[in-house]
Amino acid sequence: MAESSSNPLLRPLPDGIVPAQVVARTEKRWLLVMAVMLAVMMTVIVATGIHGALHPSSNVEVIDPQTLHLHGEFVESNLGSAVEPDGSVMVRIVAEQYEFVPSCVRVPAATPVTFRVTSADVVHGFLIPDTNINTMVVPGFVSEVRTSFALPGEYAMPCHEFCGFGHQAMWAHVSVVPKGQFQNMSPAERTSCAAQ
Ligand code: CUA
Repeated sequence: MAESSSNPLLRPLPDGIVPAQVVARTEKRWLLVMAVMLAVMMTVIVATGIHGALHPSSNVEVIDPQTLHLHGEFVESNLGSAVEPDGSVMVRIVAEQYEFVPSCVRVPAATPVTFRVTSADVVHGFLIPDTNINTMVVPGFVSEVRTSFALPGEYAMPCHEFCGFGHQAMWAHVSVVPKGQFQNMSPAERTSCAAQ
């Protein structure tokens, strides 16, 4: 580089070095790309937020918590597990201070299970650890969750929403039995494993 100018800004750039103008142009383009991405993401967030506020979650089912025991789906004789025509199992549970009714639910393994839970008094929690089940049980509404238990076993079902002085004692159990064993049970045995 014997012919180099004494002004370093006028010297030709060595191979592999991108001129400053090109760098500036590229950076401006990326700035534009980032701005557009940000605008798109903000639009999505705002639009879904407004949409969610205007249309609350699906499957909102209201129910009168004061007449649960008198008529309808959640009368006591209708609680517990029931086999549906398609072979799946429907479990209906009432949460109340400070118990779940029934206090022990029996379901078959490797079978689709739908839980329908409602509250007779205050807000309770419905959780079965090691499954996808984790929801609140709000008086006046029916919480519906679906799952399937791969293996037989005993599962705890604690209330995990503070609901009063007896909250910590509000527990129930799910007893998952092999599919064949469930099919051979009497209707009463299937319905619930709570002490009769
Ligand atoms: Cu029910 Cu805590």
